[in-house]
Amino acid sequence: MRVLIANDYDEMSVSAANYVAKKIVDFKPTADHPFVLGCPTGSSPIGLYQHLAKLNKAGLISFQNVVTFNMDEYVGLPEEHPESYHSFMWTNFFSHIDIRPENVHILNGNAPDLKAECEHYEEMIAQAGGIDLFMGGVGPDGHIAFNEPGSSLASRTRIKTLTTDTIQANCRFFNNDVNLVPKQALTVGVGTVMDAREVLILCNGPKKARALHHMIETGVNHMWTSSMLQMHPHGTVFCDEEATVELKVSTYEYFKDKQRIEQTLERFKGFFTL
Ligand code: GLP
Repeated sequence: MRVLIANDYDEMSVSAANYVAKKIVDFKPTADHPFVLGCPTGSSPIGLYQHLAKLNKAGLISFQNVVTFNMDEYVGLPEEHPESYHSFMWTNFFSHIDIRPENVHILNGNAPDLKAECEHYEEMIAQAGGIDLFMGGVGPDGHIAFNEPGSSLASRTRIKTLTTDTIQANCRFFNNDVNLVPKQALTVGVGTVMDAREVLILCNGPKKARALHHMIETGVNHMWTSSMLQMHPHGTVFCDEEATVELKVSTYEYFKDKQRIEQTLERFKGFFTL
């Protein structure tokens, strides 16, 4: 696993966005052989999405031959609700890039048969040839997508009941009223994420410090579902300094040292200049 520690949120977002953009450019996607990108929601990826949109506007990258699959969606929240993940993705990303609407896939939390919807989603991912790069964030309890503590690490796309922790964390988007937060969501499984050829996790801010500690320092554990990243052959964490405060000094220094030697962040930032 690679862990890259940026000074702050902006540096994390720009270097991660450049990293993703370079992957897409190097892939040389075509209509017949598109790049398949897994997308998260939440506040963590907003800076990354903004930078990708800037690269797109500057003509340095195109999303014409990129197919996306989102991680999750609330159950029962109308698509047009400002806090649905459909709205989030169009507002924060898709409306600002040249992606073809037919290449966007987001779970339908209002489908008449939610189980069938989840099974169909897995089929569509398989038909697209699997996911080349799954980007993700983590909840304060270490969840990935909506794979709450205790989720099977082999899980596939399915319906999940949200924990009180997650409902409380997400109520900031619903007038700080826990009663307005949907209680269920459709989510890709941990296994679905791990099947991607590469996984990139964003983890920033002091509220994510415990999650980062469990993701990288303790063993693989279903109570911290993002720790499954340890089993992935190509896993990268982009974090900021604030998220590292629960790490052991030796862990922090190990990854910092590696980063200095390989000049990783500098290289990624240098992939594209605006
Ligand atoms: C929700 C989403 C996750 C996301 C998490 C963290 O629970 N389902 O995919 O990673 O929130 O969100 P934020 O980035 O806003 O902290």
